[in-house]
Amino acid sequence: MLETKIGTDISYAATLLQQGEVVAIPTETVYGLAGNALDTHSIEKIYIAKQRPLFNPLILHTHSIDAIKQFAQITEATITIAQHFMPGALTLLLPKKAIVPDLLTAGSSKVAVRIPNHPVTLALLQQLPFPLAAPSANPFGYISPVTAAHVLKGLQHQISYILDGGTCSVGVESTIIEVLPQVVMVHRVGGVAVEAIQNVTNLPVQVVKKHTSQQVQTPGQLKSHYAPHTPLYVGDINHLYEQYGKGKRVAVIALRQMYTQPNITNFTLSENGDIALAASHLFEVMHTIDGGNFDVILAESFPETGLGLAINDRLHRAQVQWK
Ligand code: TXA
Ligand code: MG
Repeated sequence: MLETKIGTDISYAATLLQQGEVVAIPTETVYGLAGNALDTHSIEKIYIAKQRPLFNPLILHTHSIDAIKQFAQITEATITIAQHFMPGALTLLLPKKAIVPDLLTAGSSKVAVRIPNHPVTLALLQQLPFPLAAPSANPFGYISPVTAAHVLKGLQHQISYILDGGTCSVGVESTIIEVLPQVVMVHRVGGVAVEAIQNVTNLPVQVVKKHTSQQVQTPGQLKSHYAPHTPLYVGDINHLYEQYGKGKRVAVIALRQMYTQPNITNFTLSENGDIALAASHLFEVMHTIDGGNFDVILAESFPETGLGLAINDRLHRAQVQWK
């Protein structure tokens, strides 16, 4: 059986990746499960370790906007937006160049590209002669990891090394956008607020509606992602409590409000109501609750501004399979 080690040795991670192995890497959003993005064998290993369906493409990670040009076509309008957010929690969907394997994009002519803003992984990318494919380092469908310990919990014996870069500061996955001539499409809400993108472009910024079928352009928009094992419901807590909470061990995820029913344990995400801080605590809290002794999770609906959009998106997808 494969032994999984946690460590901080960037050169060791680079060596494993050059040998075609997969390694978990830290980013500012969530931990990624990385492999050589230009090598189909490495890409296959990622899909297998995650038990991820092959129709769900992977993001290519590199270290600079200049490097992106090797892998994709990028317009001046896109570069202008990219310069505001890269490195950072923004992923660009771009027409791919031939060097990018079809397996990475699941057959699509577009590739998703991101420059993670994490010193450890930026140093790793600079050491490597190839970019890294990296989905979130969780088993398919489960909560994304924001610490090395979360990765270990989900992927022990599947991978040999987890590069530890501490707790992810943003804590939700990147925002995926596509800059079209008339509009900026947001394919996944995430760590960069839609308002922040709107602030740097004259084009309208439009969030793509959620899909329910599997034939979708961005499979990340599939529902039933990010789901804890404990049943989770989103909405008005007192209302949900009446329906699902009585006589149960209840965990509540709220922005700042404390609920006083005796069988409720409160997990507030941000004491001062800061929504970005709340987002950064969401997955951590979901992991903690799922590892505790709770029968049910009740979560507030968060304000639909800033990173509140990403929080609600993840909560709603976590809820779906129990409805
Ligand atoms: O913050 C992040 O984006 C993290 C870190 C590790 O970088 N990565 C991440 O990867 O969230 P993943 O695989 O869990 O989610 C990537 C999403 C998927 O929903 C996938 O469907 C979508 O991006 N995606 C990737 N490539 C695509 C493509 N060529 N066309 C459409 N959607 C794509
Ligand atoms: Mg994921």
